[in-house]
Amino acid sequence: MLTIGVDIGGTKVSAGVVDENGAIVEQALRKTPADRPDLIAETVADVVRELAEGRDVEAVGVGAAGFVDESRSVVRFAPNLAWREEPLQKKISGMVGLPVVIENDANAMAWGETRFGAGRGQSHIVCLTVGTGIGGGLVFDGALFRGHWGMAAELGHMQVVPDGRPCGCGQRGCWEQYASGNALVMEARRIAEEQPERAGILLGLAGGKIEGEEVTEAARQGDEASLAAFASLADWLGQGMADLAAVLDPGCFIVGGGVSRASDLFLDRAREAFAQRLTGRGHRPLPEIRLAELGANAGMVGAADLARHR
Ligand code: BGC
Ligand code: NA
Ligand code: ZN
Repeated sequence: MLTIGVDIGGTKVSAGVVDENGAIVEQALRKTPADRPDLIAETVADVVRELAEGRDVEAVGVGAAGFVDESRSVVRFAPNLAWREEPLQKKISGMVGLPVVIENDANAMAWGETRFGAGRGQSHIVCLTVGTGIGGGLVFDGALFRGHWGMAAELGHMQVVPDGRPCGCGQRGCWEQYASGNALVMEARRIAEEQPERAGILLGLAGGKIEGEEVTEAARQGDEASLAAFASLADWLGQGMADLAAVLDPGCFIVGGGVSRASDLFLDRAREAFAQRLTGRGHRPLPEIRLAELGANAGMVGAADLARHR
């Protein structure tokens, strides 16, 4: 039997028909109607109908960037999208006539990596998606840890700086304001403005508007400001992971998300920062910090598998 996994991202909705081994049979994409969150369910239904046509599809799993309730049907809140109490499950299943499971996007990614990627064979996994925000997923003894109300592992919203930078969640100083893709860009822009002499390559590449692509490219070309922004991201990541290890004692961390495509620019330094700041260091094994293996498809494949085992 086949299931369909859908990953709702900030720019695109990526969907795929997935078999029981996590293999993608067919894929399709749509643009996310980002300014119309009320139309996202329709977009998902549309791509699901296209993929389900002429196939025996059992269920649909959807990864969404927000706080999903314990029944895995409503997105209660989304810091970086306009969803509030959004009944995604009801809307989508009503339109496609199939069972639908909604899951937090990072949880879905963590599940995909656990079953078919970097987490295979591991019993205590902390997954991080470093992108627009920071998403988290915890898998312990082969089960996704959801907490009492379904909202566990909102790791990006640990408040690491008292009264720090404002966050989309309404609080201040959240980890994702220091160690996400958005944070990387903010930091690079800040340095470029305050010390333009360190950002010559970046400013030349960006021509006015600095985005993540330019920061990455400039860092590869040796731009000082961009390298400093990556160093800051790495240190914040390492610090946060040390705190998580103090609480959770995982056997490994898996780092994915859009920014992880530039892992050569920060992951080793993050590992060092982590090892430095780990409480009890020298007297405990160091958990491995691995790169996600399924890339951009992890969330989709994970969501499909969660639907299969719903
Ligand atoms: C949201 C999470 C989401 C993460 C990654 C965070 O801002 O709170 O629900 O998993 O971003 O998309
Ligand atoms: Na999560
Ligand atoms: Zn926050």
